[in-house]
Amino acid sequence: MSTEHLRQNQIVAKREIAPKTYWYDLYHPKIARKRQAGQFVVIRVHEGGERVPLTLVGSDPDRGTVTLIFQAVGHSTMELARLEVGDALLDMAGPLGRPTHIENHGTACVIGGGYGTAPVLPIAEALRGAGNRLIGIIGARTRGLVILEKELGSLCDRLEVATDDGSYGRKGFVTDALAALIAEGTDIRFVLAVGPTPMMRAVSELTRQYGIPTMVSLNPIMVDGTGMCGGCRVEVDGQTKFACVDGPEFDGHLVNFDLLMKRQGAYRAEERQIAENYEHCRIAGVLDA
Ligand code: NAD
Ligand code: FES
Repeated sequence: MSTEHLRQNQIVAKREIAPKTYWYDLYHPKIARKRQAGQFVVIRVHEGGERVPLTLVGSDPDRGTVTLIFQAVGHSTMELARLEVGDALLDMAGPLGRPTHIENHGTACVIGGGYGTAPVLPIAEALRGAGNRLIGIIGARTRGLVILEKELGSLCDRLEVATDDGSYGRKGFVTDALAALIAEGTDIRFVLAVGPTPMMRAVSELTRQYGIPTMVSLNPIMVDGTGMCGGCRVEVDGQTKFACVDGPEFDGHLVNFDLLMKRQGAYRAEERQIAENYEHCRIAGVLDA
């Protein structure tokens, strides 16, 4: 495929893979070549726009494209979702963050909750590539919100799907599926979990009981993504860390989840108000083109 006509940060493919959840392939040959599992980018849609951290879900170095998956839940991600194939982001900085530490653990289990399943995909690929026997668990509120089942299914020796309402797979949370695997004697030597913070905490509490090493990918508020602003401060093993440069993955048994949740909620009311205003303007048709 000729890429001569493409501009940096241009969207070359767009799919809605679940309600309000989008898969974008964007042209950025340098990031496509350099990115490793576990890393992320910080994007801006337009001048004056918010800086949004998004995990790199994959890349195609030959085409020069990177894959991002996001849910349009806030003002900036709603703006992002309005773009179409051919549009370009203002900028994309990365790859940022430390790559996932990959080794052969024997049997590894990757767990994705909701659209947090997206960052799990490149890590599953890397763990598989290192020779692990791989078990995957995907959790979603309901059937229509299950994402990447096919992609993870092709990497995993075994894939469990859990929905909160029981509309697909096992009824319950990802932790119910993990507890069942442990109860049936599956010799899991490593767990990697990405999703809502209460989920990552619950997974870590469960695996702690069995001494299973567990990494979680933290998603605190980020601004610059380069260790300068302090916005992504987290506490791990009693020490201050910055998720953007020291993480985003940390030992789940050592993370101070109470502090993380408090900091994540600091601007929740304002974020909700801005997102609601934006949605009203969109419906009323008064947004800039
Ligand atoms: P959600 O609230 O629908 O939850 C998804 C699944 O997580 C549930 O179906 C359940 O299986 C599990 N879960 C939720 N709460 C749990 C609990 N208390 N105990 C055990 N399991 C629980 O998820 P969503 O609305 O799709 O949100 C996805 C989350 O993933 C967001 O919070 C987002 O910030 C996070 N995320 C993180 C990253 C990252 O790189 N760290 C990337 C993308 C998304
Ligand atoms: Fe600013 Fe990490 S986002 S220090």
